[in-house]
Amino acid sequence: MIFRQLFDAESSTYSYLLADRVSRDAILIDPVFEKHQRDLALIRELGLKLSHTFDTHLHADHITGAWLMKNALGSKIALSKHAGATEVDVPIDHGDAIRFGHFAIEVRATPGHTNGCVSYVFADRVFTGDALLIRGAGRTDFQAGDARELYRSIREQIFSLPQETLIYPAHDYAGRTVSSVGEEATHNPRVGGTASEGDFVGYMDNMALPHPKKIDAALPANGRCGKPEDGVVPPVAAWGPVVATYAGIVEIDAGGSPSSETKSVSSTCAPMSKWSANSA
Ligand SMILES: [Fe+2]
Repeated sequence: MIFRQLFDAESSTYSYLLADRVSRDAILIDPVFEKHQRDLALIRELGLKLSHTFDTHLHADHITGAWLMKNALGSKIALSKHAGATEVDVPIDHGDAIRFGHFAIEVRATPGHTNGCVSYVFADRVFTGDALLIRGAGRTDFQAGDARELYRSIREQIFSLPQETLIYPAHDYAGRTVSSVGEEATHNPRVGGTASEGDFVGYMDNMALPHPKKIDAALPANGRCGKPEDGVVPPVAAWGPVVATYAGIVEIDAGGSPSSETKSVSSTCAPMSKWSANSA
């Protein structure tokens, strides 16, 4: 299996690329709109065939890259049927199993952060979206959130997995990348250990968090699975037909994808637009 954890520093979002090393079939979980060129370049450089993008829920803090990836590679957009979005190709629900290559990904409904949240179980790991975060849990104060429901989702659908199951969340704001069911069931201060449903609800109901900065743009855009309102794909750069490599270098597009025949252009003399993967 090929596994890559990708990060968007602006929204502290993790995206996850999973692929069958033999067949090259691949899926991408929670892609970010502004990181589309980076993710596309990695998929192309690794020679993968992206069959699906999977969003864990209708995000309020960033716009999904699902539609852009479909536009570029023909991948199907998978999202909970309860999310209420258009442009969905595979409306999923609890208990579904979606195959890619020799693998399958299992869908578990984990509502409570939103009413359309799902977690994806794959082999020895689970992608929990914003339901369960490392030492935390997703907020429950908008998007039909429900703290009682979230407590039960985490306890019944995530903590019921084997203790050694790896937990990969949709976000982390403190540099943490992975946890495990056993670790969170013991040490998560909101929902682990002896925390009762009442404890959890009391904690979540008193967080008084500000609304996400991008919520006004993110919710309508994600209701279209990230399809721009005008249907126009933002160019990599305004000055020419170029593509971006995973290294963050832009190259003349010699036929739709990076290849040995493409001509390299230094990113230092040809700065990329907001798509740039190279921030260092
Ligand atoms: Fe969220």
